Amino acid sequence: MRILGIETSCDETGIAVYDDQQGLLSHELYSQVKLHADYGGVVPELASRDHVRKTLPLIEKAMQDAKTSPRDLDGIAFTQGPGLVGALLVGSSVGRALAFAWDIPAVGVHHMEGHLLAPMLEKEKPDFPFVALLVSGGHSMLVKVAGLGRYEVLGESIDDAAGEAFDKTAKLLGLDYPGGPLLAKLAEKGEPGHYQFPRPMTDRPGLDFSFSGLKTFAANTIRGAKSDEQTHANIAYAFEEAVVDTLMIKCRRALKQTGMKRLVIAGGVSANKRLRAAMEGMMKKLHGEVYYPSLAYCTDNGAMIAYAGMQRLKAGQTVDLSATANPRWPLDTLPAVD
Ligand code: KG4
Ligand code: ZN
Repeated sequence: MRILGIETSCDETGIAVYDDQQGLLSHELYSQVKLHADYGGVVPELASRDHVRKTLPLIEKAMQDAKTSPRDLDGIAFTQGPGLVGALLVGSSVGRALAFAWDIPAVGVHHMEGHLLAPMLEKEKPDFPFVALLVSGGHSMLVKVAGLGRYEVLGESIDDAAGEAFDKTAKLLGLDYPGGPLLAKLAEKGEPGHYQFPRPMTDRPGLDFSFSGLKTFAANTIRGAKSDEQTHANIAYAFEEAVVDTLMIKCRRALKQTGMKRLVIAGGVSANKRLRAAMEGMMKKLHGEVYYPSLAYCTDNGAMIAYAGMQRLKAGQTVDLSATANPRWPLDTLPAVD
């Protein structure tokens, strides 16, 4: 079976063709980063308009690269939510219109399920069950994954998402949007021991996160410090260390609580090298395993939507012509796939 995947939930247009026998056949990505850079964040109206411009040409390109004609497709998956409503509407309108024209089913995919299943695109896939740490620009959550579509949210951020904290702190350090990867790069030049950031919400039980305090702590630290590059690198180092440490403490707690030894990290922040290294070290000590997607599938992309869509398509979980975007959509309300 073969499926086309369409991702337009935020500031990336991602398109992919996935075949359940041959794997990923093509994948196209257009990032709107430059469009939003001047504003220091995503401007929803501009994002929607750019998706309108890019979605169909990228679909054409992905279909050509995959040597796939509409007749070869068994379905079309689009990100139905959560995300920016105007941006989601582009993918859902295009996806459902093409499915109607080509007389094939359409599948509405949950963006975070896409992230969660992205490691399944790799050669070494995690078996169920596992604990998933989903850390992106819009969400931070720990999920107990019993099987496909069997998700229990163990904890989530009560304020900023991990990626959002990276981006906001990066902005305070004068870095461009989205600053997460730039802050990580700057932190590589940082020296340990100069600054000590708090580890929010680790001194009390529970698996929720809070990252907005780190941003405030960073603002105060920057205000009281010199503004040369080495000082900024030292601050970036200490900030990153605090986020990684906090995520590690919560993951360890979630693994203990569930009795599991398998951890999946996904979402944009899972591209962070220090986070990956720290989690690998931790899982080695715990005699467990950690899985994450390749860099291209950590941040938003069409491949993860095509993959998740394929699983739902096989289970007959398709949407009808009246399906619309679902900007707020709790992950644990999804039906199981069995
Ligand atoms: O998953 P994603 O592409 O979009 C959402 O669904 O939100 O995640 C984007 C987020 C941004 O906040 C970005 O700064 C962060 O992931 N990010 C990183 C790194 N690469 C991307 N944060 C820290 N270190 C990185 N290397
Ligand atoms: Zn995402």
